[in-house]
Amino acid sequence: MTARDFIRAQTTVAAAPLVPEIALHLATEITPIWQATEAFLAAHGVEPPFWAFAWPGGQALARALLDAPETVRGLRVLDFAAGCGIAAIAAAMAGAARVEAAEIDPIAAEAVRLNAALNGVAVESLAQDVVGQPARWDVILAGDVCYEAPMTAHILPWLRAMAAAGVRVLLADPGRAYLPREGLAPLSRHAVPTSLELEDRTLREVTIARLLP
Ligand SMILES: C[S@@+](CC[C@H](N)C(=O)[O-])C[C@H]1O[C@@H](n2cnc3c(N)ncnc32)[C@H](O)[C@@H]1O
Repeated sequence: MTARDFIRAQTTVAAAPLVPEIALHLATEITPIWQATEAFLAAHGVEPPFWAFAWPGGQALARALLDAPETVRGLRVLDFAAGCGIAAIAAAMAGAARVEAAEIDPIAAEAVRLNAALNGVAVESLAQDVVGQPARWDVILAGDVCYEAPMTAHILPWLRAMAAAGVRVLLADPGRAYLPREGLAPLSRHAVPTSLELEDRTLREVTIARLLP
């Protein structure tokens, strides 16, 4: 089975609660996809299926961009750690000049391709770790990326270096454990409905902040 077939078989086309404008391949229940992915993981060595859910951070970013398209209009945008690609798709819909989405999980990168096609927008989906690459973007979107200590330690110095190079780095976080306490300039807050299967509550308050160098 290809990654594309796997995504189609394990998801249905639906929209995240905060962003009805964007259709996505999403898991409706968590257990079956997690079990299926464990089997697929054993066969192909892949990651847990983060791409099958629109996380609170990505939903908030997508909502903010669709409501204020001038944030990215005409600009070069990277959706870093894109998951299903909801923020990348919103950036393309908002009129960004070029949208890239980066994912270390190749199945997520394929999900981004499928989801971008579903919405008729152009997103260049990169299955690679772009951490360490020089800046080629005006805006970097990072939704829900501070949930693990090693990951945060890996990505944050690079994201701050991007900010120092003049990139507008927008971090959207629902209160994850490893969010830095300093060097963030809050811009907006969004109440995002969530599932009790994924989170410990039915609503998460996401803050979108500009990451400072
Ligand atoms: C909680 S999900 C968030 C996805 C999406 N931004 C959203 O808000 O819906 C985190 C994602 O980060 C990806 N990831 C982790 N480390 C990464 C890295 N160094 N580069 C790109 N993606 C990464 C994981 O594969 C996972 O899909």
